Amino acid sequence: MQDKPVVLVTRKLPDAVEEKLAQHFTPLLNPDDRLYSPEEILRLADNADAILPCHTEKFGAEMIARLPARVKAIANYSVGVDHVDLEAARQKGVIVTNTPDVLSDATAEIAILLMLGAARRASEGERLVRNRQWKDWSPAFMVGRQVTGKRLGILGLGRVGQVVARRARGFDMEIHYHNRRPLDTAQAGGAVYHDSVESLLGASDVLSIHCPAADATRGLINRERIALMHRDAILVNTSRGGVIDDDALVHALKAGVIAAAGLDVYNGEPDSIHPAYRELDNLFLLPHIGSATRETRLAMGERAISNLVAIFNDEEPGDRVA
Ligand code: DGY
Repeated sequence: MQDKPVVLVTRKLPDAVEEKLAQHFTPLLNPDDRLYSPEEILRLADNADAILPCHTEKFGAEMIARLPARVKAIANYSVGVDHVDLEAARQKGVIVTNTPDVLSDATAEIAILLMLGAARRASEGERLVRNRQWKDWSPAFMVGRQVTGKRLGILGLGRVGQVVARRARGFDMEIHYHNRRPLDTAQAGGAVYHDSVESLLGASDVLSIHCPAADATRGLINRERIALMHRDAILVNTSRGGVIDDDALVHALKAGVIAAAGLDVYNGEPDSIHPAYRELDNLFLLPHIGSATRETRLAMGERAISNLVAIFNDEEPGDRVA
């Protein structure tokens, strides 16, 4: 019998996922969940036929060029693939896959949580209670903004954006969106199309960002574009930090250009996020937990394993991105 292919797993995955992986492959696991350096990954990859990384491991052009020739695939445990230079992978003949669909519900939940948290001043309120600073109830105390019946602008009405739209309809929100092209009627579900980001920003009471991080979207939400939003507007981001120009958002939140924001993803996460973010009361912050539910983390593992199984059976993997 042929030996099972060896898969380098860069982070600790749920036990059930690691057990399933071991049925098909010889996994090189990271039980302590230590963040490997690029050099460690390269060293460990010497004995691997594939790598199963998370977005926390970067595979830039140089890293991919240095991967041992026996590494046939990078099967990501993530939907986002901005941490992988896809063109470099194509050139080297390394197959790259991701885990779409299975994290849409979980990520949409976090987008809704951010929207409500920012609108209803959840961080401020929680701090008051925890710090014993809550002294009174009054008609003017902790007054926030209601989202029911408001306009939700979705920047990128793809898999996650469409789930957010469905959930937001439960709050009677009117859905607007911008994509490069309008969706067909069934996919758009009645959402109003805007042919530019600028038009969407001007129309949104709440803007939820769902476009992928790419050269074209880096710093897309900049000072000029945020200025198109109105003073009561709220911005939330569950996509990638790179879509936002941090200085511009900090300015907008300090100067009252918009009312509040909610972020789950950041430039420089986790420890080098914009320092002003930690200080702003009108900012609701979460630590990149969009896909962090038990159900979703298991499903992401299933998806990554299916992709690897297909690759080593010489079949086309379902979620190939390069
Ligand atoms: C994803 O899957 O892209 C999540 O952000 C976690 O990496």
